[in-house]
Amino acid sequence: MDNFVIRGGRPLNGQATISGSKNAALPILAATLLTREKSEIKNVPELMDIKSTFELLNYLGKNCFYGYGNFVVEERAGLKQHAPYDLVRKMRASVLVAGPLLARFKKVRFSLPGGCSIGMRPIDIHLEGFKKLGAVVSYEKGDVILSARKLKAGRVKFRFPSVGATENLMMCAALIEGTTVLENCAREPEIEDLAAALVKMGAKVEGAGSPTIKVTGAAKLKGLKHTVMPDRIETGTFMLLCAAAGGRVRLLNTAPKTLTALIKAMQKAGVKINCFKDSMEVVAPHGRPKPVSVDTKPHPGFPTDLQAPWMVFMARANGTSEVHEHIFENRFMHAPELVRMGADITVLDRKAVVRGVPQLLGAPVMCSDIRAGAAMVVAAAAAKGKTLIRRIYHIDRGYEKLEHKLKDLGVDASRVKA
Ligand code: EPZ
Repeated sequence: MDNFVIRGGRPLNGQATISGSKNAALPILAATLLTREKSEIKNVPELMDIKSTFELLNYLGKNCFYGYGNFVVEERAGLKQHAPYDLVRKMRASVLVAGPLLARFKKVRFSLPGGCSIGMRPIDIHLEGFKKLGAVVSYEKGDVILSARKLKAGRVKFRFPSVGATENLMMCAALIEGTTVLENCAREPEIEDLAAALVKMGAKVEGAGSPTIKVTGAAKLKGLKHTVMPDRIETGTFMLLCAAAGGRVRLLNTAPKTLTALIKAMQKAGVKINCFKDSMEVVAPHGRPKPVSVDTKPHPGFPTDLQAPWMVFMARANGTSEVHEHIFENRFMHAPELVRMGADITVLDRKAVVRGVPQLLGAPVMCSDIRAGAAMVVAAAAAKGKTLIRRIYHIDRGYEKLEHKLKDLGVDASRVKA
């Protein structure tokens, strides 16, 4: 197992290129199940979660390979309609194959994903949506089975704007003739990227990025050629890395307009951010940042996936701030690790009170999920002395070539064998 060793406390200086978005690539790869035709997708990051998707698609009957900078997906004869536990348990996003397979074969069986370290994460909103389009839901040996004689375009109102449920229902509706109206949809930028991909496949999609999405499906969809959007969570993590460690960095191949809530909060705390069309420059405040409280909310609110690295930034603020986590019920696992590095944080249910301290200090810490892991990296770069980060397999699920990019930004980081 690998660990990271980071010697922090030095201001950053450099530039890094942002990878393609993991959370946009995952549903777009699932959408290739909607067609027999070949698809070619660019800017897919090379990550553990993408490798898991690769394995799942291969198991289901696709051939996936990298060729000339493209992620190519081709179909072998006949697809399986069963996503088994061993593949789904590695990555919850595997549930995204349900919508496309149900639409194409009127039947799909997949392992119920179960909870993870950040919360229970049920899929009731997905299932309610499929039922509205005519599917019958049953359970067997830990699997969910969805079947329908015929699926019908219809109206689905989500009780909460779930990102995964919005994506699953969009993909399903893309292969149902007629117009399906999805209400109270997630508005995350990754939804807009999926909509663009579905349009290239031959569906009509209106309203992505707003609460109401209308999908007019086609009887048959084509293969797609698409370039995945830049990863806004990787971008935000590097912005906070610079803000917490000090210095100035430039981030290339990114989309500043997808990060408005973070940019506003960082500017309030005293960070200078110069945005260009597809790059940005971040200049850390002189001295300690001002305390700023945040509430995580569905997009366009402050993203839950940046809450952990934000807390690191606030751990050195010149005063007390609060972080309210409204999306997941157990997403403060990084707080006790930060306390080991000298932070002063109290967690009360879904609220963390962060009393800024002048300096974080290096310590051995461990990661509990992807973003908590990213927070450990940000803390280590900001802390004085050496930090050993364990369980970095969590980080490897979501950050491509991290140690190389950290070096490009001026962080003394290395991957070592445990
Ligand atoms: C997506 O997860 C992202 N994953 C998550 O990123 C991200 O944190 C999350 O959206 C919120 O932005 C991918 O895109 C692959 P949700 P998803 O359905 O789709 C509850 C990362 O670090 N809920 O919007 O699973 C759920 O329990 C990951 O990259 C139900 O109750 O998120 C949660 O509390 C982590 N029933 C809330 O809604 C449902 O049927 C938001 O979940 C579905 C969700």
